[in-house]
Amino acid sequence: MTSKALNNPAYLHELLAFYADAGVDEALAEEPNDRLSPQKAATGLAVSSALSSTTSTAQQPQAENSVRLAAAAIPDEAQAARARDLARQAQSLEELRTILTDFDGCNLKFTARNLVFADGNPQADLMLVGEAPGRDEDLQGLPFVGRSGRLLDRMLAAIGRDRTSAYISNIIPWRPPGNREPSPLESEICRPFIERHIELVRPKVLVTLGNPSTKLLLQTKTGIMRMRGTWSVHTTPGGLEIPTMPTLHPAYLLRNPAHKKLAWRDLLAVKMKLAELEG
Ligand code: URA
Repeated sequence: MTSKALNNPAYLHELLAFYADAGVDEALAEEPNDRLSPQKAATGLAVSSALSSTTSTAQQPQAENSVRLAAAAIPDEAQAARARDLARQAQSLEELRTILTDFDGCNLKFTARNLVFADGNPQADLMLVGEAPGRDEDLQGLPFVGRSGRLLDRMLAAIGRDRTSAYISNIIPWRPPGNREPSPLESEICRPFIERHIELVRPKVLVTLGNPSTKLLLQTKTGIMRMRGTWSVHTTPGGLEIPTMPTLHPAYLLRNPAHKKLAWRDLLAVKMKLAELEG
């Protein structure tokens, strides 16, 4: 990149648009770091080793790097087995949160700012599970707090509920970089945790939001458009059977508002089922 290009606003605009399209919406450091500057290139190594031997903030990334390298040395299949083992050990939601906080077997943890565990009332009879946190959720450490979260709140309100009478989580507890789709392996590694999460909450009714959570929790290859609106059963690893209603993801509904009526119908069925189970 020439300095002429960098001084050209039209070029910079194009470059930023390209980054935005690619999902790059986060700065990794507070200060910009011009890695292309000839001076930095020549002295970068000396500067970084000098810093790492004198400051603790420079040591932190190093320590994190060695955790990351140690975790990367374990094959992904073994990480999935480790996840199953660890998830089984959790006897409470707090224990599960601690286990997830310490778990280093999913690469998504290293690019996320926060663990996004859950929100709402864990004593509620209704639990909803989405896919993965986005930018707002990553910043706040809470699920569904961005645009789709606001729509989800309105969907809950339509059946007389809010976050004091519903519990919300995701199949993936760390934001995938640039909001990319989680890979099948990442989902497989995270699966034991959400399954144990559901088992510990023991909701009377589960709602899966969108394709990925429906496919994962109901072990089906059938798409959400065919699954939604009819009852299925999610079976937890311990054999607990929970009536489950798949419905459309709020992010999809923001793009396809004409389909909101379908989600509304699904949620009315949920409301009726909960009333039936109550009575
Ligand atoms: N989409 C999800 O699936 N989960 C969130 O928490 C936010 C957006």
